[in-house]
Amino acid sequence: MPHHHTAPSPQTLQLRTPRPGDGTALWQLVQATGTLEANSAYCYVLFATDFADTCLVAEQDGQLVGAVVGYHPPREPGTAFVWQVGVRPSHQGQGLGLQLLQHWRALPANAGCRWITATVADDNAASQALFRRLAHGLGTACHVSPHFGAELFPSGHAAEPLYRIGPLA
Ligand SMILES: CC(C)(COP(=O)(O)OP(=O)(O)OC[C@H]1O[C@@H](n2cnc3c(N)ncnc32)[C@H](O)[C@@H]1OP(=O)(O)O)[C@@H](O)C(=O)NCCC(=O)NCCS
Repeated sequence: MPHHHTAPSPQTLQLRTPRPGDGTALWQLVQATGTLEANSAYCYVLFATDFADTCLVAEQDGQLVGAVVGYHPPREPGTAFVWQVGVRPSHQGQGLGLQLLQHWRALPANAGCRWITATVADDNAASQALFRRLAHGLGTACHVSPHFGAELFPSGHAAEPLYRIGPLA
């Protein structure tokens, strides 16, 4: 058989909800962002199972390069909360974060939601810009209000104001 020099495999990017087996990779991705607070591996296994419908991962060549970890706050019907959004440093600044959030918002579990919420630390400029950009793209408002004050956290943790995006059609 002739030997074919195969071209480098196309860098296909797949956006999909996580599977139970993604929990550990999700945990590693969060650590790789360098900015996000990594929770326990068990926590990401929970999100990759019980909360998978409201999560999204970006996979490229078998590696997770970005993710949205979210859920619906039990006392806030019609609200989809972004708990963590992260993109691997090698893939940042290329529109993936925005693409992930737009795709996440349109997931069957989230499509009926009137509001998207997140908390963003005061010192996280990239994330602040990302959520404002998402609201702008959706043609709606982004309202910022005090939420988790620094006093709720162990010392050294910045306050986490609430970003409320909507109303969404
Ligand atoms: C925040 C993060 C998810 C953004 O993802 P990304 O793929 O780099 O962002 P995008 O390329 O989609 O950019 C979307 C918007 O965010 C803004 N943005 C992205 N990176 C930025 C940076 N370093 N500084 C300022 N604004 C930035 C831009 O306004 C951009 O909109 P524009 O392209 O119209 O200018 C990514 O930088 C990240 O993983 N950071 C570490 C983890 C983190 O802080 N997560 C958020 C806390 S929950």
